Amino acid sequence: MTARLVCLPGDGIGPEVLNAALRVLEAVSYHFNLDVVTEHAEIGGAAIDACGTPLPNKTAALCEQADAILLGAVGGPKWNALKAEKRPERGLLDLRYRLNLFGNLRPIHPVPGTTQSSPIQPEILDGVDMLIVRELSSGIYFGERVYQPTFAYDTAAYTADEISRVVRLAARFAQQRHCSLTLVDKANVLATSRLWRNVATRIMKAEFPEVALDCMLVDAAAMQIISNPSRFDVIVTDNLFGDILSDSAAVLTGSLGLLPSASLSEAKAALYEPVHGSAPDLAGRQCANPVGMIRSVALMLRYSLNAPDAASSLEEAVNSVLRDGPRTPDLAGKGESVTTTDELADHIINQFRSKKDVRTPAHAPGTDTQ
Ligand code: IPM
Ligand code: MG
Repeated sequence: MTARLVCLPGDGIGPEVLNAALRVLEAVSYHFNLDVVTEHAEIGGAAIDACGTPLPNKTAALCEQADAILLGAVGGPKWNALKAEKRPERGLLDLRYRLNLFGNLRPIHPVPGTTQSSPIQPEILDGVDMLIVRELSSGIYFGERVYQPTFAYDTAAYTADEISRVVRLAARFAQQRHCSLTLVDKANVLATSRLWRNVATRIMKAEFPEVALDCMLVDAAAMQIISNPSRFDVIVTDNLFGDILSDSAAVLTGSLGLLPSASLSEAKAALYEPVHGSAPDLAGRQCANPVGMIRSVALMLRYSLNAPDAASSLEEAVNSVLRDGPRTPDLAGKGESVTTTDELADHIINQFRSKKDVRTPAHAPGTDTQ
């Protein structure tokens, strides 16, 4: 069966990291006999420039038909003066909303070769392997918003159904992992958080009795993620807290550029994107780390293309290159030579092939670097 993949490069380093990741995908699909066709479309600032809107109808329609979507990044200084509803970020938010991408998986698992770039002590990083499940299509990101020169508000609202579906998703992952789920909220202040707590407690007791649920206030969780991260298995939290906590958790891994994400819905639609942003200062210089995007491809292989072996082989190749080098500037130590975005992808491709008894096509990407 042919998988239809829609690629949305977006802005800043988005096109570079996506391009590198697509070459890796080509090598992996060749080896695993996966039939993937790709189509490119515009989103974010690139779409504003081309069509005057951050999510053109054509892009949304293509994404609705796709088996999976790969997105680079959106945003940049060029569009900073625009009003919130016209900004590049709006394109991504509208896409998440339209496709009902309510469950955002952000795995955080420091690996050898990168943790020396983390400011956190090595013994604290020992055994860290957490999955942040962020609610992605509701909450304060999508509530009523008013901005006036002397007055403004944003609204955070959740229904019990919106909470239930993401709690169930997180609980199913916890079942397959270490059977521990932490709900992060601000139930001592917020009404939405109290609803989250009630709904989560009820569901976990009735449907997932083998998974231990603990509830933690977000301020305490922010501290624990940095000071005692190995205590977490699966975290489930709302849209805003999930956004903030996943960037802080990235500190544990050594670079924000390493983190992938998968955004899932109840239907077929799924979007895969790195956790990092468009990093305009790095754009066009071939110095961005493509690993967050490449690991997002691995998540796509696992969750959308039903190719878990391909996903694991790719992740092993990534981890082995991260361990032995070469490294992009975000991870290179003092005096260590640095590699480019494309070269790193080539090293991953070569590593992947060397571990497989791989058929190498004549036009294979990455064969010219070693
Ligand atoms: C993320 C990003 C987005 C978000 C931005 C680009 C709108 O920070 O995916 O974490 O806040 O969700
Ligand atoms: Mg973010």
